Amino acid sequence: MTPAIAVASAHSNIALIKYWGKSDSARNLPAVPSLSLTLDGMTTTTRVEFDAELAADHVELDGAVTAGREQARVVALLDRVRAIRAFDSRARVTSQNDFPTAAGLASSASGFAALALAAASAAGLSLSLEAVSGLARQSSASAARSLFGGFASLPADSECAHQVAPEGHWDLRLLVAVTEEGRKPLGSTEAMEVTKQSSPYYAAWVTHAPLLFQEAERAVRERQFDTLGASMEQSTLMMHASMWATRPAILFLTEGTLAVMHRVRTLRSQGLPCYFTIDAGPHVKVLAEAKHAEAIQRELALMSQVKRVIPCAPGPGARLLSNTLLTGKALPC
Ligand code: DP6
Repeated sequence: MTPAIAVASAHSNIALIKYWGKSDSARNLPAVPSLSLTLDGMTTTTRVEFDAELAADHVELDGAVTAGREQARVVALLDRVRAIRAFDSRARVTSQNDFPTAAGLASSASGFAALALAAASAAGLSLSLEAVSGLARQSSASAARSLFGGFASLPADSECAHQVAPEGHWDLRLLVAVTEEGRKPLGSTEAMEVTKQSSPYYAAWVTHAPLLFQEAERAVRERQFDTLGASMEQSTLMMHASMWATRPAILFLTEGTLAVMHRVRTLRSQGLPCYFTIDAGPHVKVLAEAKHAEAIQRELALMSQVKRVIPCAPGPGARLLSNTLLTGKALPC
């Protein structure tokens, strides 16, 4: 095979209706349907170069060489691409996030979406976006949704995500209130497995999640802000409640998280429509209509528990920035 390079970028997505738990851990299939908004900010850019001269895969994330589990997850995706393409060249991978990695800001979603697209393309595979989504999903199920712009869904037990509505469908904002800096103590994969194994609330979560998904999907299609917000908050609170009931309990919410949650409810009662969602980390993502977003952002930024607020609009899906067959000449990427 001719060695090739591809560069792809992808944005984070935030689940409005959460994926939490797997129906098949070995295949990484989700137990519940999820619905997300891809953001215009929080971007990962990844370059993959397959090179037959390399003895082993070399992976750098934000300038640091990866090792252990982080490295193994990247190599596993590269192995799947190599198996489809039936070649065994190793790869040089460099990946850059423009936001903090593994801090509950969905870096694995943008990361694996960009990696899947760059690796498939560098290997010369011509796959549909759904097939690339399936490749990303095997590494991290939330990443399957970042292939698509705007609103995307990943049904339960599904191989790949689909677009529900493009980014221009609804002028919403997601205000990311960062409450702590630094890496989160426990990854989503481990935390959802512990929940499945030991939470008495897990079965109730799996039963109820599809109802919230249906309600929220309809609310997105019909642009019903309060219905979407209500189902989004319930999804988040049910997901975290299922974690609180494990032994020992998994608590991602900190004092700062709780303060922002209460502030959002107060702002709402004062006539500023906004709703919260929280992933496997302490940050609070606040959903607002564009016309109210600046006022809400100002209120959040005044809080001592909020380090900074990152305002995000609906963003595009993953895209290829270059795909260049090596010719022996210096390459632009
Ligand atoms: C709370 O996609 O990181 O962000 O498939 O094991 O890699 P794996 O899990 P991951 O879980 C994301 C969990 C979440 C909710 C969501 O994005 O739907």
